Amino acid sequence: MDKLDDPLSRLNEVIMDLEQALSQSQAEIKALKQAHEQESICREQVESELKASQHLLQLVMNTLPEAIFWKDRNSVYLGCNQNFAEDAGVGSPKNIIGKTDYDLAWKTEEADFFRECDRRVMLANHAELGIVEPQLQGDGKKAWLETNKAPLHDASGKVIGILGTYQDITERKQADIALQDLNQKLELQTSQLQLALERLQHSQLQLIQREKMSALGNLVSGVAHEINNPVGFLSGNLQPAQDYVRDLFGLVDLYQKTFPNPGREIEEKIETIDLAYLREDLPKTLYSMREGIKRIANISTSLRTFSRSDAEYRVLFNLHEGLDSTLLILKHRLKANEHRPAIKVVINYHEMPSIMCFPGQLNQVFMNLLANAIDALDDSNQGKSFSEIQLHPNRITVTIQLSNDRQWAMIKIQDNGIGMTEEIKQKIFENLFTTKGVGKGTGLGLAIVRQIIVEKHCGTIEVNSLLGQGTEFILQIPVKTV
Ligand SMILES: Nc1ncnc2c1ncn2[C@@H]1O[C@H](COP(=O)(O)OP(=O)(O)OP(=O)(O)O)[C@@H](O)[C@H]1O
Ligand SMILES: [Mg+2]
Repeated sequence: MDKLDDPLSRLNEVIMDLEQALSQSQAEIKALKQAHEQESICREQVESELKASQHLLQLVMNTLPEAIFWKDRNSVYLGCNQNFAEDAGVGSPKNIIGKTDYDLAWKTEEADFFRECDRRVMLANHAELGIVEPQLQGDGKKAWLETNKAPLHDASGKVIGILGTYQDITERKQADIALQDLNQKLELQTSQLQLALERLQHSQLQLIQREKMSALGNLVSGVAHEINNPVGFLSGNLQPAQDYVRDLFGLVDLYQKTFPNPGREIEEKIETIDLAYLREDLPKTLYSMREGIKRIANISTSLRTFSRSDAEYRVLFNLHEGLDSTLLILKHRLKANEHRPAIKVVINYHEMPSIMCFPGQLNQVFMNLLANAIDALDDSNQGKSFSEIQLHPNRITVTIQLSNDRQWAMIKIQDNGIGMTEEIKQKIFENLFTTKGVGKGTGLGLAIVRQIIVEKHCGTIEVNSLLGQGTEFILQIPVKTV
């Protein structure tokens, strides 16, 4: 019995141990199960909190007026907000994940530009703000954006991607463009108006100048005409007067021959009037009267030459005569006055055929150039005494000659007046440019000269000038004899 009892009781003991171990394991399993349940409750809670916060983040991003997106290092999209998803044409933010700019609505060149920009920002590890760029969007709208891009970093500070936001500035940009357009149009209109005004002023002043010239012309031709009558009358009577005198002398001779002793009274008279001298001098007097009348006739012709009014077409004109007549009109300004001796005018006229031109206009040119030369001489006289000027006389040299190839008539008007600086020389042909005081110059003379020579006569003008030394104008006009 004892032998049997022993193993049995040991078995019982083992069974009890096993039971104890089993219940312990069961308790442990239960505890583990409880812990697992606890953990999964916790995880679920964390997950739902994470979802809630993600949802909140998405909500915040969707509520912002900007479009927001982020990409990885290879510019592959990781996420975006609703605005961006719509612009990109993917509908919802979740559809953007894994896409690149080439999968979206924009044009290829725009995608190139975006990626180039991403690359730059990530490489420099530096944000770029306020990039203004065009973008073709999902609904076909051609938008203008103002974009900010910043690099994204991991915990160790390594660049892992890029975060971008942009604002649609299409309206502002369009308003800007419209404003710019408007400004441009306005500027154009203003400059056109300005030009029109300048032209109007120019033509008004030219009209005044032309009016003055034609008033002067009228006056001059009127005077010439008035002189002409008495001159004709004088020259017409001079010849008969000479004949009468000759006849009278013949008669006196005959008397003297027939009555060699005329008596005391007549002899006394012959002595008083110095008949011998009278006979010798009277023909000379008559000759000088004839010369005087010839000169008056020449002046009258010159006056009429100067006051020629131009027709629509060119006519043959002798430049020598034109310059002579202009110098004659300006004689009152050339002669001596209390401040200075007369201006010396040196004339070098070479052979020159008559040329086809507008004579009245060329006279206007000569008038302007000679008047300027006289002004320049007067300016150079400032502060000098009469005798100082006499030592270095004021001089105007007028040269007319044919060019070597005989195709051009060259007119050179030179003075030893005040001259001009290079800066002034650059401006003298500009309308209204003058260095003269108010009321002295309008600044139109040379603008008109340029117009008449260059535009009307297809000629050229050259100016040489040295400050304090003098100035020369060289005009060239094509010789068109037919
Ligand atoms: N011979 C010259 N010597 C020096 N300066 C000159 C000479 N000719 C012209 N100028 C300069 O050129 C400017 C323009 O000449 P322009 O004849 O066009 O006008 P202006 O003589 O001033 O006025 P106006 O309309 O009465 O002729 C002059 O004001 C002067 O400064
Ligand atoms: Mg002038």
